[in-house]
Amino acid sequence: EAAEKGGYEHFMLKEIYEQPKAVRDTISPRLNKDNTAIVLNELKWTKQYVEAFNKVYIIACGTAYHAGLVGKYYIEKLARIPVEIDIASEFRYRDPIIDDHTLTIVISQSGETSDTLAALKESKRLGAKTLAVTNVVGSSIAREADQVMYTWAGPEIAVASTKAYTTQLVTMFILAMYMSSLKGTISPERTHELLTELRHLPDQVGRTLEDVEPIKAFAKNYAYNNDVFYIGRSLDYYVALEGALKLKEISYIHAEAYAAGELKHGTLALIESGVPVIALATQKSVYEKTLSNIKEVKARDAVIIGIAAADDNELEKYVDHVIKVPTTDELLIPLLTVVPLQLLAYYAAITRGCDVDKPRNLAKSVTVE
Ligand code: AGP
Repeated sequence: EAAEKGGYEHFMLKEIYEQPKAVRDTISPRLNKDNTAIVLNELKWTKQYVEAFNKVYIIACGTAYHAGLVGKYYIEKLARIPVEIDIASEFRYRDPIIDDHTLTIVISQSGETSDTLAALKESKRLGAKTLAVTNVVGSSIAREADQVMYTWAGPEIAVASTKAYTTQLVTMFILAMYMSSLKGTISPERTHELLTELRHLPDQVGRTLEDVEPIKAFAKNYAYNNDVFYIGRSLDYYVALEGALKLKEISYIHAEAYAAGELKHGTLALIESGVPVIALATQKSVYEKTLSNIKEVKARDAVIIGIAAADDNELEKYVDHVIKVPTTDELLIPLLTVVPLQLLAYYAAITRGCDVDKPRNLAKSVTVE
């Protein structure tokens, strides 16, 4: 086993550090040389085929569901098709409205999650076209779906999903860009701009792993708190959900993610002196709004760790510490902001002496209901 860990203390840490390669392997075969087009040999869709969809469903569990939330944002923003997203165990029992103009996308690292597989079968039965985004070639979900896009993350052993998540995000981005190019919903200039950022993304993921000492220090400081809150708006909120799940599952610290604008509707009552709040603020259209939510939390004396892009010189004025990630297009920044959150969870769990790769009560793949 030690050899398989390649010198790392845990599979989770190894897999966090494999993300630049995993993301590169997922992007490279699908991006043309001059960054002007997505080439998806596995789909070969036509304009007519994509235009026939009047609704997309995304269905998944856990971390894959969090990747789906980002995927919904991408498809709606870039391809302008309405997307519904659901947790597989909810979807399969709620009599969903589906017909042959629906595209169902299921996301699953293992390709064996029983609720996701059942949701896929139910979608097919109701007439939807189905697409699986999975990491395991030949898995049950890959075999059941009409079409497959593989995330080329390589084997993920740790129960806590890391490189599967980042490759799922990038796959959903590639799919949304592909759909938008067929539909003509974004200009060639914007396409080129986004695909150039996509080309640089693996190196930027690598840069988020260069200086982990401050993250280790925060994790040590806050490892014995009972609660940690994660806040953000828009894409930052979806990354917050994933950061909170990581912390819960491996360190057993109670963690909650909230859409920052929702705090006032109840959760603000839980914020008291010394409570750690991780605040993500990378989305320009809601930046000022997020800042005012951060000020509300600060006024209750919370300890705030801000997560921002490298070119942000504003956030540090309002928070206690800032972790910066490289600057990229705000659509792609979730692939960078999630990395410090994975590391925070990892080092908090280590500090508490938890079994990082095999957290209590959890299995890598949930093949029973
Ligand atoms: C993530 O860290 C989890 N362990 C879990 O939420 C996982 O993502 C979920 O069970 C879905 O698994 P799948 O991707 O293999 O379907």
